Amino acid sequence: DVFKKKIPASSANLGLGFDSIGVAVDLFLTIETQISNAFTVEYKNEALEVLEKDEDNLVFKTALKIADDYKKTLPKLHMIMDSDIPLSHGLGSSSSAIVAGIEIANYYLDLNLSDYEKVMIGCRIEGHPDNVGPCITGGAFVGYYLKEELYYYHLNLDNLSLIVSVPNYEINTEEAREVLPNAYTRVEAVAQNALANVMILALQNQDYKLMGKLMMKDAFHEPYRQPLISEFETLKETALKNGALATVISGAGPTVLTLCEVEHVDRVLDKLKAIDSCQHKIVNVYSNK
Ligand code: HSE
Repeated sequence: DVFKKKIPASSANLGLGFDSIGVAVDLFLTIETQISNAFTVEYKNEALEVLEKDEDNLVFKTALKIADDYKKTLPKLHMIMDSDIPLSHGLGSSSSAIVAGIEIANYYLDLNLSDYEKVMIGCRIEGHPDNVGPCITGGAFVGYYLKEELYYYHLNLDNLSLIVSVPNYEINTEEAREVLPNAYTRVEAVAQNALANVMILALQNQDYKLMGKLMMKDAFHEPYRQPLISEFETLKETALKNGALATVISGAGPTVLTLCEVEHVDRVLDKLKAIDSCQHKIVNVYSNK
């Protein structure tokens, strides 16, 4: 009896919407598990070899924590893991692993969790909903989570193309959160709230031009993180000059996300390829419905 699951990557913060908005993209973590006599992991992709191969693997750790919380016993498992989500690059690789752990717990412990319960469990572990949320719901996710209170909606993002530009260095999310201020002025907070509100309605109405324009008005995290990504300015300038709608940092970086109308994406990709310190790739919004 083999349990198989495919979990998408996610890009958090669409510029605006820090710790609230995220989108699922079609890069995947895939797992296959089978009951065994010890917790063991086999990697199909060499890049994953840096990860733990026993119960300290984040997928197992998550499933074991959930088993503990539900006072149940998780059977020992052998897991085969493959992934095309780069680790520590702002595409939610650890969130996908957490979600894989939630799915394993749900299956082997017969928990029958709803999506809402899965997102809640993910938020308890991660502290913010903008990666685990879209990983579970697919599409674009807009959520609020704090102290056991969780509200969210998710919606599809049709007719939009995305490009991820992935630099060859990692950024540790914790460190990229430490560069952010602990407080913002009321004027700033009010403006950011208003901009995000309008952006969400632009997104829902597929007014991608306005959405892109507003995405680039974040003041909560991007100004502090851009200096950590040396290619950012050049990527953004190149993308916008060639018809892209917006260029923002994906999650905590260093991956940079560019949004394009479908008819412009090939041209933008072609121009971005000149910036050869990054790997550029067209990805799509992943919808699991
Ligand atoms: N919203 C989080 C951040 C996402 O920007 O720090 C981290 O993946």
